Amino acid sequence: MAYHRQPLDVLALPTWQALQQHRQAMQHFSMRDAFAGNPKRFEQFSLSGCGLFLDYSKNLASDETITLLMALAREVGLEQSIRAMFDGEKLNASEGRPALHTALRRPLGDKVLVDGVDVMPHVQRVLQQMTELVGRIHNGLWRGFTEKPITDVVNIGIGGSFLGPQLVSEALLPFAQRGVRCHYLANIDGSEFHELSAKLQAETTLFIVSSKSFGTLETLKNAQAARGWYLAQGGSEAELYRHFIAVSSNREAAVAFGIREENIFPMWDWVGGRYSLWSAIGLPIALSIGMSNFKELLAGAYSMDMHFKTAPFEQNMPVLLALLGIWYGNFWDAQSQAILPYDHYLRNITKHLQQLDMESNGKSVRQDGSPVSGSTGPVIWGGVGCNGQHAYHQLLHQGTGLIPADFIVPVVSFNPVADHHQWLYANCLSQSQALMLGKSREEAEAELRAKGMSEDDVQRLAPHKVIPGNRPSNTLVLERISPRRLGALVALYEHKVFTQSAIWGINAFDQWGVELGKELGKGVYSRMVGSEQSSAEDGSTQGLINYFRGRHRG
Ligand code: F6P
Repeated sequence: MAYHRQPLDVLALPTWQALQQHRQAMQHFSMRDAFAGNPKRFEQFSLSGCGLFLDYSKNLASDETITLLMALAREVGLEQSIRAMFDGEKLNASEGRPALHTALRRPLGDKVLVDGVDVMPHVQRVLQQMTELVGRIHNGLWRGFTEKPITDVVNIGIGGSFLGPQLVSEALLPFAQRGVRCHYLANIDGSEFHELSAKLQAETTLFIVSSKSFGTLETLKNAQAARGWYLAQGGSEAELYRHFIAVSSNREAAVAFGIREENIFPMWDWVGGRYSLWSAIGLPIALSIGMSNFKELLAGAYSMDMHFKTAPFEQNMPVLLALLGIWYGNFWDAQSQAILPYDHYLRNITKHLQQLDMESNGKSVRQDGSPVSGSTGPVIWGGVGCNGQHAYHQLLHQGTGLIPADFIVPVVSFNPVADHHQWLYANCLSQSQALMLGKSREEAEAELRAKGMSEDDVQRLAPHKVIPGNRPSNTLVLERISPRRLGALVALYEHKVFTQSAIWGINAFDQWGVELGKELGKGVYSRMVGSEQSSAEDGSTQGLINYFRGRHRG
């Protein structure tokens, strides 16, 4: 049965209207004054759990803001929505499926029913299958066509079959087991294939064709290219099974490609691509860090699941982050959200959260097909600090729009070099501090006068030096990156995204918008290669096709 809750028009709710009035009252709210007036603001607006510490005190939020946002969550029935997700109700109504990525991290002995069937034995069986593969590769028992052990694993996949595994395997590099290097091949761009294959030897390389649908153009093209390269390097069709395995819910297509039944790791339609790193899609993670670390990752995510499910909303990290996001997006016209990890190992988190958030909540209609009445998911962008400080932070500080930022930073570095980590941490803090404090006209003028400038120069330069400040941010601190804490961190954002979708009444688990481009791509391709004579639907596209054809003829 499809998810039955009738989406509410959230804008018509009394609490929404109260929030609108409250927004007017907050027009002149000053974070500086709020801290000055309340020495306990940091303690009051921060919390810890699941190995993470969240400081949300640098927000345009008073006690009343939080009270009203919590009331909104209750008024929309968030508690029931959370229960419905964990219970496997078909929240992905347009595809008639539940969204049960949380089942992938549940402990042995739990039961999760989908259409009356307990899926947990399947989950456990795949974990066992992964354990066997990882053991054989790590112990040098899985050998290539020249009987040499596998040294390199290439994950061929895109979107959710790439971004989550890449984030985690690279973030947990300090936990990597010796012997296997992981690589990623995602784009259909031949240059990516060329650069990667140049570094590898076919006889010691294992390809994981990672595609839930086994129908994704980029992945299939790259898999074919990899097969051609393997054969050209001396591999044979008969030994292909030693070098190609698959993760897919489309077993037939994987077999048709030439992958042996026993080398196909199943996926289920109740796990969405961008929520799938916890499944066999996480094989490159497990191959890099080993199964016990992979299980730690699952345990961390599970601890966040339990926190999300049971903590009161006021102390619930995903709920707090989600409501603050709604506060800025729907009431302060913020259109984007910056994700700023201050850690080299977390450098890919922005890309993963981009897909997670934008593919989930980039929607304009509610579950029942009616148009949403306010804005939904923001643009997610950002990147690793301090690099961003010397690139785009200027816009965060002095641009015309309000851009809330999440800073993510560990306390302990894996690789201390002199006092670098102290400086990295200090920069993270000073950025959120600068966003909040800003610099007033008086401060700017006083600073320039102190440098001995003429009054004319002071007046000329002061406007450029003024920084509005009062710009919001959250800071998430991890004691140190570990599989468990990373699992909790990624699950935190999954639940944040879900909470927002539940409040807006949209489906976070489908992605119909990406289909049109794929469909049109076939027509464009046929016209480019000349197998289709009719003109493209529009002059611009046809003109660009002609340009390509002209260049390739010459
Ligand atoms: O095109 C979008 C998408 O469908 C994502 O949702 C998904 O993560 C990605 O493509 C890859 O899909 P698959 O794992 O089926 O190849």
